[in-house]
Amino acid sequence: MAPKLKIVVTPRSFGKSDPAPIELLASQGYEVVYNPYGRILTKEEMKGLLADADGVIVGVDPLDREVLAEAPGLKIISKYGVGTDNIDLKYAEERGIKVTLATGSNTEAVADFAFALMMAVARRVTVIDRACRDGIWKADAAIDVHGKTLGLLGLGAIGKAVARRASGFGMKVLAYDLFRDEATAAAYGIAYRDSIGDIVREADFISLHLPLDGKTAGIIGREQFELMKPTAVLVNTARGGADRRGCAARSAAGGTDLGGRASTCSRRSRPTIRRCSPSAT
Ligand SMILES: NC(=O)c1ccc[n+]([C@@H]2O[C@H](COP(=O)([O-])OP(=O)(O)OC[C@H]3O[C@@H](n4cnc5c(N)ncnc54)[C@H](O)[C@@H]3O)[C@@H](O)[C@H]2O)c1
Repeated sequence: MAPKLKIVVTPRSFGKSDPAPIELLASQGYEVVYNPYGRILTKEEMKGLLADADGVIVGVDPLDREVLAEAPGLKIISKYGVGTDNIDLKYAEERGIKVTLATGSNTEAVADFAFALMMAVARRVTVIDRACRDGIWKADAAIDVHGKTLGLLGLGAIGKAVARRASGFGMKVLAYDLFRDEATAAAYGIAYRDSIGDIVREADFISLHLPLDGKTAGIIGREQFELMKPTAVLVNTARGGADRRGCAARSAAGGTDLGGRASTCSRRSRPTIRRCSPSAT
């Protein structure tokens, strides 16, 4: 009898809300190995699990050349999401390893989150929450989103989902993307701009929805922060690498008061709201 194909599944949320994917894998007679660590795996852990694996369903765990080189039997990488910055796509192609994406699987969830972060900063939700928990109850100036300009960096699936929400909130929406979707732009009143500089100069809120790759790493840096309005709010639910240096740059430039400028920054795919402070690297 031929040995069972081994499939490694790393995302902890896999099959949590619906057991169908787990049942499907089981019904195919695979040997399925679920993430035994309950967290994002390290390179060494990935190497260990993938040494004799045929396929992997992967979240944000590392699948760079070093890891893939130690997975000689790997035939398929199924990304549980859409961002491929943790996968060496070039090397996978050289090796003939197929890479698939779960396109659209988290589009609306990420758009909700981006919008929630923007609203949280605008209405100072976390600041007020913290103050209330400390027994402090005082009026606090907030920012309206209605009538404001939202600049979207990346108008793919998630950028468009955010644009749909913004149009319902009466925002003016600007977008920058390598490719233009004029039909969507017309449907939601989105105006394209030719450069990131145009977006960051005009926008009251800026939301990042670009993939992290060699062209977009650090795409929001000192120059872009200096072009922003002093009251601009930056939300990054894409990948931290797109603006991490930017946060540091703006801190260095001194624009760090949440009452004026504010940012939400993310590392990997887990955004948090925080000030851009000198310790925010
Ligand atoms: N926080 C999370 O949990 C989470 C979840 C899903 C996706 N993401 C991140 O969001 C990113 C976007 O997801 P999506 O589903 O909208 O992807 P998408 O492929 O639908 O959209 C990406 C858009 O970026 C544009 N683009 C790519 N490179 C560009 C460049 N150099 N300059 C200008 N435009 C460029 C593309 O043309 C495309 O329209 C993902 O790559 C991922 O990193 C984060």
